[in-house]
This record gives sequence, structure tokens and C-alpha cells, in this order.
Amino acid sequence: MDRPERVRHFTKVSDLSVEEIRKILKRAFKLKERPHADRSLTGRTVALIFSKPSTRTRVSFSVCVYQLGGMALYLSEQELQMRSSESLEDTARVLSRFVDAIVIRTFAQSDVDELAAHATVPVINALTDERHPCQALSDIFTFEERFPDSKGRTITYMGDGNNVAVSLAAAGALSGIDVCLGIPEEYDLAPALWEEIQGLAAAHGTRVWVERDPERAVETASAVYTDVWTSMGQERDQGKLQALQPYQVNRGLMSVAPWEAIVMHCLPAHRGEEITDEIMDGPQSVVFDQAENRVHVQKALLTFLLGGD
Ligand code: CP
Repeated sequence: MDRPERVRHFTKVSDLSVEEIRKILKRAFKLKERPHADRSLTGRTVALIFSKPSTRTRVSFSVCVYQLGGMALYLSEQELQMRSSESLEDTARVLSRFVDAIVIRTFAQSDVDELAAHATVPVINALTDERHPCQALSDIFTFEERFPDSKGRTITYMGDGNNVAVSLAAAGALSGIDVCLGIPEEYDLAPALWEEIQGLAAAHGTRVWVERDPERAVETASAVYTDVWTSMGQERDQGKLQALQPYQVNRGLMSVAPWEAIVMHCLPAHRGEEITDEIMDGPQSVVFDQAENRVHVQKALLTFLLGGD
């Protein structure tokens, strides 16, 4: 595999064009059928920098790189000089001399953007407080696996306007899938992010809208998606939990959704909070397919970014 002439990063969903997303998802479907068919990362190394805990993202990226023939190098931020005694800029320059790609999970989106600005190898956002693009790309794959006629269908996201909601809405907008956000007023997306999402939706002829009424939010949904109400490192906020309670994905809510609707969750779940056991473990749930699909989609993403096609 030759290095592409122009380094490509994946710091946010819209770093990819509609055509590139199609290409990556098509490749992911092939890789899911034949997981060991592609060894194009043989002899290559991918750094995985994590400043926050992770099960799915860390393990799936490690497995991705291994199955593609390369080596994943896990680095917790605490063990690096990064930020404590070396700038992000210098870290990016040094790591670019050693490794072929950098996957990073951290707090501020601006840190990922800065790393990408100075790295000469692809930088992949593995979650920031603002975005979770790898999750969103994989979620579109899971949705299309169940609904190959995905165009014009709706994914309804129930919860607060967090990083998962932002990236899901962006990925839906670029994939011809409408996204309804079932969000109580005080937990809306940040205004700048909302504007960005509306711009993407308008440019691609899709719809992203907010519906405050939980039942109306799910009544035309092909997928009902939820995420934890207390993100990593946040204090449990009783006021927030109370405000979100009507948005819980439970049997009553799912009885209003179309019969064919699937249930999605990026995991980890706080069972009994944003989703009940019977729905999470029920026949409509695709949450563990969603987790598995991280591997197939990220393999396709890595080969795209590293191979340039
Ligand atoms: N969904 C997700 O990103 O899971 P982890 O936090 O375990 O990586």
C-alpha cells in the first residue's frame, strides 16, 4: 500500500464526502463477509492515544489493525509527554515519524484538530466531548444492514444533545437518512453545532429536526437510538435524569414506534436509565451488532485513509 499524496484525517463526519462514505461502507460490507481478506496494513503501525476509558473503541481499533496485518500501539495519554511537557504540535510531528496513523480519544475537539493540523499521517477522532464520528459511521452501516432501502427513512435519537447525537445527525444528513432528535429543551445541541448540522442537511436534501414530545418523536422512526444520560467523567445530575426520564426507551415508547423499528445504542448502557432491560435484550435490539460493526467499518476507514482510495 503506497502512501497517498495528500494526508486525510477523520476528525469529524463531514471530513468525508457522500461518495467517500458510500465507498467506505461498501468496503465494510465486504470486509464483514471476509474479515481476513485484506492485509494492506502489513508492516504498518497505528498509535491509539486514549485519555478516557474505552471498551469498544480501543478493542475494535486494536482488532482492526491486527486483522489488516499491522500493529496497534496503545498509549494512554498519562504515559506520554503530550501536553505535560511537550506541545500537541511537536507530539504530532514526532509520532508522524514513527507511525502510519494516529487514533485519539480525548476531551477537547480542538486538541484533535490541532494534532491533525500538524500530523503528516492520518488522525482519527475516537471520541471528543463534541463528536464521535467513528461511532456514527458504524451506526449508518448497522442501520443500512437492516434497511438497505435506507434513503428517506428516519433514525430518532432520544436523549441529550451530546457528541453521539451530533455525529449521528451529521452522518444521517450525508447518507440521505432523516434524523429526529427527541431532546428536552435544556439539553439541545450547542448552537454552533446545530447550525453546522442544519447546513449539512440543507446541502444534502435531508432533514434533521427536534421533537420535544417523546411519542411523536418515535412514531415514524425506523430506528430508535439512545445513549447514556451521564457521560464519562460527568457527575450524576438528578435534574438532568428527571428531565430525560420521559425520553427513556421502554416498552411503552416502543409500542408507539412502527412495528419494524430497530433499537440502537452505542453502549455502554445504563440499563434501567435511558433504556430498559426488556428493550435492550428484546427482538428489536441491534445493539451488539452495532458494537461488532465498529470493527468492519473502522477497517474500511483505515484502509481508505491510509491507501488514499
Ligand atoms: N461506544 C463507544 O465508543 O464505546 P467505548 O466508550 O467503550 O469505546
